[in-house]
Amino acid sequence: MANSRISDSSTADGGQPNIPLFKVFLPPREVLMPRLEEVLYSGQISEGAQVVEFERRFAQRIGCAGMLSFNSGTAALHGALALAGVQAGDDVVSTPMTAEPTNMAILHAGANVVWADVDPANGNLDARSLAEKITERTRAIMVVHYGGIPADIDAIRAVAQQRGIPVVEDAAHAMGARYDGRPIGVHSEFVMFSLQAIKHMTTVDGGMLACNSAHDLDKLLAEGRKFRWFGIDRAAPRTEVDVASVGYKYHMNNVTAAIGLAQLDYVDEVIGAHIANGRYFDVALQNIDGLRTCTWDAKAEPSYWFYTVMVRDRDNFCRHLAAHGIASSQAHKRNDRHSIFASSRCALPGVDAFYGSMVHIPCGWWLSESQRDYIVDVIRKGW
Ligand SMILES: Cc1ncc(COP(=O)(O)O)c(C=O)c1O
Repeated sequence: MANSRISDSSTADGGQPNIPLFKVFLPPREVLMPRLEEVLYSGQISEGAQVVEFERRFAQRIGCAGMLSFNSGTAALHGALALAGVQAGDDVVSTPMTAEPTNMAILHAGANVVWADVDPANGNLDARSLAEKITERTRAIMVVHYGGIPADIDAIRAVAQQRGIPVVEDAAHAMGARYDGRPIGVHSEFVMFSLQAIKHMTTVDGGMLACNSAHDLDKLLAEGRKFRWFGIDRAAPRTEVDVASVGYKYHMNNVTAAIGLAQLDYVDEVIGAHIANGRYFDVALQNIDGLRTCTWDAKAEPSYWFYTVMVRDRDNFCRHLAAHGIASSQAHKRNDRHSIFASSRCALPGVDAFYGSMVHIPCGWWLSESQRDYIVDVIRKGW
């Protein structure tokens, strides 16, 4: 539901709507541009004060133990795996029901992807399948909160803790979601948030890694800072540092951090609108022939990046929506179908069931109340 501070004039009511599945939210020009201009001409545009302040405020918002910024969510996932101790040749159990970067990051770490199946009710990693896929070679578990619906964290963490394996949550779609009354970002050793263009909150590109390791957090964060900048400790005089591990050029800069700091003043309203629209659809899309909404763990509170439904005759459903100016899409290809992951192929009946009928419809901050009613009416007409 759009409101005055974050409303979207380009999809205003009247005439045939043109309702996109994704839309970039940026703070108003008069708020953002002076801040950007200030940092752009400050002489300090790389990693500096804005990055430190953004990490601090993002961590405060989540309530996690430590926070590391990166120049993308993918880089943050690579960092998480490295900090979790994943090395070349190790196995990481993951889900194919996600965007490619989730699993590409596992390859960046030199590790092998082992697929676990998903719950066909929502596309999230299934804890029972996970338990079956863990072996002595497994060094980490990758969990995705697909579309903003939190996975069954309690069951997944129970498996992980029993086997002593760290969990990396890919929360690229789940900023603002909660599980067991607490924000996504505090439950596992590592939780990644993507700030890519079309996420709940964007800095154009960027990624944040919440670190909740109980053991020597300061050392872990220092390692993470080296990992994201050539293996170098930026605080030490350059000629006195010894590079002892591989590092990357993954750091965030002051310009993107300045966008992030401005976004933090709006993100609650943006996410609040996604949640209000999603909860509306949860009720309004019941009892429709040929359509099912997702179901999830009772402790999960989704943040509805998009709204996922399972439909009969998906192609016709999408054509019907398109004819009425409403975008819909599967958004992602099941990752196990890519040839880069050919050696990981296995039977995944839960993925088959979910992927075979799922499709996403818009539910973001840009929808007006009349547009979400309109979406429901169009769907109820049948396809
Ligand atoms: C589930 C998921 N994981 C990871 C990423 C990667 O994030 P980034 O684009 O910030 O690298 C994305 C999207 O871009 C995503 O949708």
